[in-house]
Amino acid sequence: MMRVRVFDTADALARALARDVAAALRDTPALVLGLPTGQTPIPLYRELVRLHRAGRADFSRATTFNLDEFLGLAPRDPHSYRAFMQRHLFDGVNLAPRRIQFLNGAARDAAAECRRYERAIEKAGGIGLQILGLGANGHIGFNEPARALVAQTHATRLKPATRRANAALFDDRLSAVPREALSMGMATILHARTIVLLATGAAKARCVQRMIEGPVTPRLPASFLQLHRHAEIWVDARAGRSLQLRTKK
Ligand code: GLP
Repeated sequence: MMRVRVFDTADALARALARDVAAALRDTPALVLGLPTGQTPIPLYRELVRLHRAGRADFSRATTFNLDEFLGLAPRDPHSYRAFMQRHLFDGVNLAPRRIQFLNGAARDAAAECRRYERAIEKAGGIGLQILGLGANGHIGFNEPARALVAQTHATRLKPATRRANAALFDDRLSAVPREALSMGMATILHARTIVLLATGAAKARCVQRMIEGPVTPRLPASFLQLHRHAEIWVDARAGRSLQLRTKK
């Protein structure tokens, strides 16, 4: 059973998770973190930067692997997920640049880039703590709902709804949002030792309910977290409002 934690607000959730990440870094300074982009983790990253500035979160020996990147965008492209992470987290903490791992959307050979990423994760000893967001259609990373899911890191086509959800990163110009992306696969994600999925806001409520209380199905990739031994779902009250079994923190 997945552990579900319901917080009153998105900020309370972010503060609690940032404290847990800081504590995990104290226990295991060489922690390997898997990280998401999107609006949901922004308060978490803000809080981690605050804790770091207060001397309470040390990333000097940690490694990070981000989940995904748009195909065709170079790391320095201001619309890339790499640039997003730089703005929201990397510029504010003391990660060693060589231990910030990212899929290169501009790689000439996408398949080779995906294989390189899988090897890098393995070489780092696997992901210790994977933090995830949740697409409103149930995607995790860029593993979109489909008849069948892909296990390893791969190139994938984005659904129109996912492109629309990402348009804000491109000054609301839908035509500028790439049609393809590179993403960790389902096995890449599910091999993490611990997973914490975050979902906030009423728009995610239905998806959160199906992910936790519905069947495991490739039509809702996040439902596969039900198969993981140490997966937790952290929601705010609005995203958790459709749940039958409300496990209060
Ligand atoms: C993107 C990312 C996902 C993320 C999702 C949700 O599509 N590829 O990894 O979880 O958006 O984003 P938000 O948190 O903005 O709702």
